[in-house]
Amino acid sequence: MKLDETIKGRRSIRKYQDVEIPDSVIEELLDLALHTPSSMNGQPWHFIVVRRQETKTKLAEIKNRYCPVEKQMYRADFLKDAPVIIVVCVDKNKSYDREVENAVLATLNILLGAFSRGIGTVYMSAYKPDDSRISEEIRKALRIPMSIAPITIIPLGYPDETPEPKTIRDIKGAISYESY
Ligand SMILES: Cc1cc2nc3c(=O)[nH]c(=O)nc-3n(C[C@H](O)[C@H](O)[C@H](O)COP(=O)(O)O)c2cc1C
Repeated sequence: MKLDETIKGRRSIRKYQDVEIPDSVIEELLDLALHTPSSMNGQPWHFIVVRRQETKTKLAEIKNRYCPVEKQMYRADFLKDAPVIIVVCVDKNKSYDREVENAVLATLNILLGAFSRGIGTVYMSAYKPDDSRISEEIRKALRIPMSIAPITIIPLGYPDETPEPKTIRDIKGAISYESY
């Protein structure tokens, strides 16, 4: 698949077929993630691959507990039904004060690599800037050391839904030239 088609075709998928994704495919995606640019080339990533049902259910429960009222349409129940979840973490000591950016860029490579292989994903956050409790709970559930920060959670599975088409805003409204 061409890169433009991958970028334009990717959609969030929240319903998955009950079909396993082999470790070899997950490792291909994580290899793509390791090719992401990173601050000072620190390559600070650590990926936790979760397949155990008990852990997936725990992650869904934590995400739901911190889901604000206005985002209830995006409750995280589907997390427990994903065949596999990747939690993208970064080593704080190798992030050069750019923990979030380093993790988010790597996450995008995983999302795009997954889509180009027919695998559905959704971007989800593992932290809140103004409330450390969610990342602390995730840290505890996954036994993540203090020097490592969980930043995103990506459920993966072969899609069992086709999202409604998405309207993309007019490009003219998103650009100005030379100054704002
Ligand atoms: C920072 C960020 C946080 C998001 N958090 C959630 C989430 O908690 N739950 C969820 O279902 N989707 C979440 N999403 C996915 C968005 O809802 C989705 O990308 C958006 O609706 C656009 O749809 P698309 O991905 O199909 O293009 C998040 C996306 C981003 C970029």
